[in-house]
Amino acid sequence: MNYALVTGASGGIGYELAKLLAKDTHNLILVARNKNKLEEVKAELLKINEKIDVRFIPKDLSENNSAEFIKSEIDKQGLCVDTIINNAGFGDFGKYWETSFEKEAQMIRLNILTLTQITKLFLPDMIQRKSGKILNVASVAAFMPGSYMTVYYATKAFVLSYTEGLAGELRGTGVCVSALCPGPTKTDFENKASLDGSDLFKKMPVASAESVAKIGYKRLQKGKVITITGFINKLSVLSVRFAPRCLVRNLVRKIQKGSLK
Ligand SMILES: NC(=O)c1ccc[n+]([C@@H]2O[C@H](COP(=O)([O-])OP(=O)(O)OC[C@H]3O[C@@H](n4cnc5c(N)ncnc54)[C@H](OP(=O)(O)O)[C@@H]3O)[C@@H](O)[C@H]2O)c1
Repeated sequence: MNYALVTGASGGIGYELAKLLAKDTHNLILVARNKNKLEEVKAELLKINEKIDVRFIPKDLSENNSAEFIKSEIDKQGLCVDTIINNAGFGDFGKYWETSFEKEAQMIRLNILTLTQITKLFLPDMIQRKSGKILNVASVAAFMPGSYMTVYYATKAFVLSYTEGLAGELRGTGVCVSALCPGPTKTDFENKASLDGSDLFKKMPVASAESVAKIGYKRLQKGKVITITGFINKLSVLSVRFAPRCLVRNLVRKIQKGSLK
């Protein structure tokens, strides 16, 4: 039986992507830390489509070797993964010399290492079957440096570059990989990144997680390598391409600095 593996499926964009997969009668394996939330999400997904099988694996994906743990759990259950949604991720706001390095190390492990290793572990089977889809959730932050969220922006730049490089290697294999790049989106992200009430979320249009997921999902089906959601975000990314680099980093710095308490 084929399954879609969705990380960070207990809320926000990942939850909305899981709902779309359920509507399309896709079996699901949900991953996040909060077991109770995963149980609730499973019940909700089965209400959407009772024909699917939904399993979940509670796991902190910022732990070393968590990708190997997920792979071995899925192998033990004899499931075949044909779609991966690498969505789990978080950010942190503040002056770099004041923020927690432990939190940043967790962010790098979750946003970069686990995403990369999950793909590494499941990709060979997809290549052999000549089919598979991988969606990596990046951000518009991937296109620019972001003072006061310096490490987060850098992790998303990695996700975008990694996805584009891999997309080139996957040509003609039947497997596709896509980077979803949303701008500010109404989820728990803002609160968890200590950004609540920030200028970033006040000055930029904030999308719903549902609309972001819908666009990302549709473009994944079409095999598009990069998806930037929303008109203003597309415009920002376009202007970054033409504006001098120093102008871009100063502009982002100004927007972000307004959020300092
Ligand atoms: N919201 C935005 O403005 C925005 C903009 C651009 C990009 N993004 C990206 O979109 C993705 C999804 O974020 P979101 O906005 O939907 O945030 P969210 O509402 O905070 O959801 C994050 C999801 O990831 C899970 N998660 C967090 N840390 C985890 C860990 N260590 N191990 C396993 N699961 C973990 C959470 O569940 P548990 O807490 O139960 O583990 C939750 O299911 C992230 O990669 C984020 O960087 C968000």
